[in-house]
Amino acid sequence: MPRGVAAWEISRAGTGFHKVLKLRNERRYDRADAPMARDATPAPWTVAGEEKQAYVRRLFADISPTYDLMNSAMSLRLHHRWRAFAVGLLDLKPGDAAADICCGTGDFARPLRRAVGPSGRIVGVDFCRPMLERGRKKGMRLQPALGDACRLPLRSASVECVTVGWGLRNVSDLSVALREIYRVLKPGGRFVTVDMAVPRSAAVRAAGGLLFHRLVPLLGGLFGKREAYAYLPKSTDRFATREALADALAAAGFENVHWHDLFFGNICVHRGDK
Ligand SMILES: C[S@@+](CC[C@H](N)C(=O)[O-])C[C@H]1O[C@@H](n2cnc3c(N)ncnc32)[C@H](O)[C@@H]1O
Repeated sequence: MPRGVAAWEISRAGTGFHKVLKLRNERRYDRADAPMARDATPAPWTVAGEEKQAYVRRLFADISPTYDLMNSAMSLRLHHRWRAFAVGLLDLKPGDAAADICCGTGDFARPLRRAVGPSGRIVGVDFCRPMLERGRKKGMRLQPALGDACRLPLRSASVECVTVGWGLRNVSDLSVALREIYRVLKPGGRFVTVDMAVPRSAAVRAAGGLLFHRLVPLLGGLFGKREAYAYLPKSTDRFATREALADALAAAGFENVHWHDLFFGNICVHRGDK
């Protein structure tokens, strides 16, 4: 186990979180973080369940060194504003507890930390160790926990808010992940998820299609990751529509479900309350 990772077992004595978040399935995750084999890409956006999980974990392990750079290049650095917008919907106050699920390299930590202040608690859950490692190296201000969105290593009713950025599209079972998020929220807790969306305007859709289906894989190709970056537009096309995602939130128990379109409808932020 690399140094620094063992220290991520989160000791939360006396808090609403688990006293110790044991990083389960460590060996399984480590094996899954092995580099992608060239023949391990059977149209990944078409696979489901365990197969999808394993694929997604390998994919993010593979692109983790260039993830932040690509994110900024693809979004013209606007991704920071989109997260800040989403956090602005959460009505957080200093001292609140937050969980960022599918946290990757931890970019939600900055706006969350601004909202909850130094006394607030932020835990970031991701099942891809190399993504968490990148976040640790760049000094993300959250407590990382290796874990699956469909089986969160968090106590029920332990946080005021949950955020997810570009994560739900990747989970193996959307309704299970949403029920888990609902479970860990305190009564009255708030949830936001930010993800790609298919724009309603045909013209914007055409421009977005060009950008995401052609330019993004080309950019990824510069880092030798063309296949991995082909997953992004394909998985977006197959992801739930705004309405279907709102329905899935409501089915998981969320109330006051609504959404905001950003960036000409290419990005959508959903919010729901427990
Ligand atoms: C596109 S990245 C988004 C990272 C981060 N939320 C952000 O805003 O930049 C998706 C992340 O979700 C993680 N992920 C995907 N499926 C997951 C699951 N079932 N459980 C935990 N993490 C998952 C991946 O490892 C990856 O780090």
